[in-house]
Amino acid sequence: MDAITRSAELELEIQADPARFRVLTGDRPTGPLHLGHLFGTLRNRVRMQDLGVELFVIVADYQVLTDRDVADRLAETVEGLVLDYLAVGIDPERATVFTHSAVPALNQLLLPFLSLVTVPELQRNPTVKDEIAHSRQSSVSGLMFTYPVHQAADILFCKGNLVPVGLDQLPHVEITRTIARRFTERYGPVFPEPDVLLSAAPVLLGTDGTKMSKSRNNAITLGATADETARLLKGARTDADRHITYDPVNRPEVSSLVLLAALCQGRDPVAVAAEIGDGAAALKRTVIEAVNEFLAPIRARRAAYAADLAYVRKIVQVGNERANAIAEQTLSEVRRAMGTVY
Ligand code: TRP
Repeated sequence: MDAITRSAELELEIQADPARFRVLTGDRPTGPLHLGHLFGTLRNRVRMQDLGVELFVIVADYQVLTDRDVADRLAETVEGLVLDYLAVGIDPERATVFTHSAVPALNQLLLPFLSLVTVPELQRNPTVKDEIAHSRQSSVSGLMFTYPVHQAADILFCKGNLVPVGLDQLPHVEITRTIARRFTERYGPVFPEPDVLLSAAPVLLGTDGTKMSKSRNNAITLGATADETARLLKGARTDADRHITYDPVNRPEVSSLVLLAALCQGRDPVAVAAEIGDGAAALKRTVIEAVNEFLAPIRARRAAYAADLAYVRKIVQVGNERANAIAEQTLSEVRRAMGTVY
């Protein structure tokens, strides 16, 4: 069964019995989250949390070092990420937010896991290959090749059985399943084989018409002000046809703006385009208003939490304690299974 069919089936299983699932997903702390993340994954996380699924959100700080030598201003970036989570509705009473560098037993799983994969398997990973091609480093670090195995530890330390991610992460969940299966074959059952839950995420383009991305300066971040948002959207690329339509294939830039307004208003993009009628200026006015209105309560919550950074840090500390307790329990099961209890 392909991943998309399986994901649709899983959706029904989640609705029927949310308590059966433990979701593990997360982000690299490389910068602030933006509207692409919000409509792509964050909304989905909150939806599952609210359905009663147990949610673990990993801030994958070691993973920042895959394509750069040092992670700049990490503490600040992590704080910003947690602010974004809180602002969109991730509830620390129900969800566990943690940083993998603070969980030694999670990281120790990397060693037995590395023994369960071959070098050619690591070299074949299409996402890693793509990242190497786009890396600004002159040579490839060992972490670049092995981080998918580390990511398996992120997922399996808490026996996560559902991983909601985009298509690019599919190879990493595949290797996680392989590792879980081989561990069971060699040592006995400790880990579940997690399922991937592909989100039917709309692809939002950045204001320059390329993929919305933290590193391309084309993204509306959740924490930006209404003025910054207006400025960025006013400068967004459109095309020469004055009549506004929703036609993603032939008119990607205009359609992405229409889609953005539609997502913010919870409406159909075709109807939004028809209502605008003519003119890029009218389109941009509509988008700016829709985005700023939609983000206003999120931004207000973000600002309120930002005024209490001690609380934000506390959330990560509590999450890390919780993750440590679970990781130590899992590692002791691994030790027993591997016969390394002395
Ligand atoms: N690789 C993911 C990304 O770049 C982040 C991540 C790290 C992750 N560990 C994870 C995602 C475990 C899901 C599960 O977005």
